[in-house]
Amino acid sequence: MTDSIEYDLIIAGSGLAGLRAAIEAAQKNSKIRIGVVAKTQVMRSHSVSAEGGTAAVIQEEEGDTIESHIYDTVKGSDFLADQDVAERLCQMMPNEIYQLEHWGMPWSRKENGKIDQRNFGGYSFARATYAIDKVGFFEMQTLYDTCQKFDNIEFLNEWFITAIIHDGKQFCGVTAIELSSGSFYTIKGKALIIATGGAGRIYSYSTYALSSTPDGLDMAYRAGMALKDMEFVQFHPTGVLPSGILITEGARGEGGYLLNKDGERFMKNYAAGKMELAPRDIVSRAMMTEMSEGRGFNHDTGVQCMKLDLRHLGDEKIKAKLGGIREISIKFSNIDPAEEPIDVRPVCHYMMGGIHTNIDGAAELQGVWAAGEAACNSVHGANRLGANSTSECIVWGKITGSIAADYIEKEYNESQFPGHLVVAEEKRIYDGIFRGSGEVNPYEVKQEISDTLNDKAYVFRNEADLISGLKKIRELKTKTWKHVDDKAKEYNTNFSNVMEIDSMIRVAEVLLIGAINRKESRGGHARTDYPTRDDANFLHHTLAYYDPNEPIMKKHPVTITKYKPVERKY
Ligand code: FUM
Repeated sequence: MTDSIEYDLIIAGSGLAGLRAAIEAAQKNSKIRIGVVAKTQVMRSHSVSAEGGTAAVIQEEEGDTIESHIYDTVKGSDFLADQDVAERLCQMMPNEIYQLEHWGMPWSRKENGKIDQRNFGGYSFARATYAIDKVGFFEMQTLYDTCQKFDNIEFLNEWFITAIIHDGKQFCGVTAIELSSGSFYTIKGKALIIATGGAGRIYSYSTYALSSTPDGLDMAYRAGMALKDMEFVQFHPTGVLPSGILITEGARGEGGYLLNKDGERFMKNYAAGKMELAPRDIVSRAMMTEMSEGRGFNHDTGVQCMKLDLRHLGDEKIKAKLGGIREISIKFSNIDPAEEPIDVRPVCHYMMGGIHTNIDGAAELQGVWAAGEAACNSVHGANRLGANSTSECIVWGKITGSIAADYIEKEYNESQFPGHLVVAEEKRIYDGIFRGSGEVNPYEVKQEISDTLNDKAYVFRNEADLISGLKKIRELKTKTWKHVDDKAKEYNTNFSNVMEIDSMIRVAEVLLIGAINRKESRGGHARTDYPTRDDANFLHHTLAYYDPNEPIMKKHPVTITKYKPVERKY
């Protein structure tokens, strides 16, 4: 008999979206018990690494407008964003900036004392609200502090959720391993918000924390919910070599230049109107083109890179506004940006795709919502604008927290708990993985998955590469690598790593099939064999449903309210 605990609302993930959801639900109803369940400690959630800004219109008296934020988001998305969803984001964000401020967020200020904002790529106005270049850290701290005010929020830190349990009609609970003891639990619940973040560790060159694997996406997928638009991956232009750690777009927002080996600000040849502050998909393609045409630099590690030059900003400004990336650059690449340009190249940074939800964050199972990067409510379409991600987490954390609390109070009906599914899940992970056997080292498989995506589905893609990538992933699927050598009970990271790798294979397969099927170039999905956008055939979202043989692919319409798709020019 499995140990069992119970909450009214389970929130999977303790990043920005999860914490914002917990606060909203707790405020709405002090009687519901909320369990925030995450495989990391709260302040180790990847949201902590967000650097440059949170987008919102708060300078209307200076000429900014919500309409402009909406249009920039839709245009940035290469017209694949659901426009009603983009409207919701931009309309709700201004209040959230002030709400965070009231909860203690130390936003950076102008000399006149007002909250400052900086430039970011693809915007018509400086609307990235910032706190030096450690926005995620301060936002997380603010939200975590605020959570402490509510007696009905509990944290289960370092618990690995393995599956969603439902009765075919509605959500009933999850199964999870308490990592410190190794004990397997059933956590019963009336509602679930999935806020497990992105999955960018399926690429080897990545800004993500090592914990950013697709287990959250995969549990929804295995439970019958669709993954949407997984072929759209964002490559941030400036990952520092050799690690790939993020150098914020705020560095260019504060005036940094990108240079090729001829000392040229090459962005003038790709997006003269925006230069280094074009949207990320465009800047990343420009950098890859410069490198492939011989205008890159050879880095000591053997890869090509470009230079990010901040020297003209001066030591004082770099320390005051970009202190975090100065430290990263010095510690991780031995370069002081006040003295030397930083070596950078495009790096996997964000997934526009995720668990398919509607505008309210509702997934396809009653009682389940998704928020933040784990969700695909289609606010970003084919390419997200920088600083719209922390905004998304906050807005849909609030929305889903509120709706889930209402659901628990007004709509939830008790049903028979399907205990046999817990037994089946226990068997899947203990017989199928923990006690599995085989010659192949799972960590080699992990490396092969992420190298395959790096080689075959990076900034530029083509049919032959994508097909060979899919073949490789399917070969890996059939190898006997699902086993755990470490048999310890407590903190068995070998076990959780192998479960993570298991999820990586399924999600990589979905990504590659989506990319093969999308025979056009749009936003973050650039096909050299289909170089233009094809609205006649591909102005739709991609859905993938789990099937043990191979994913079942479907199409889903894009919501267009006001803005007819036009060619994107910057
Ligand atoms: O460059 C950055 O600071 C990243 C921001 C974002 O992805 O929104």
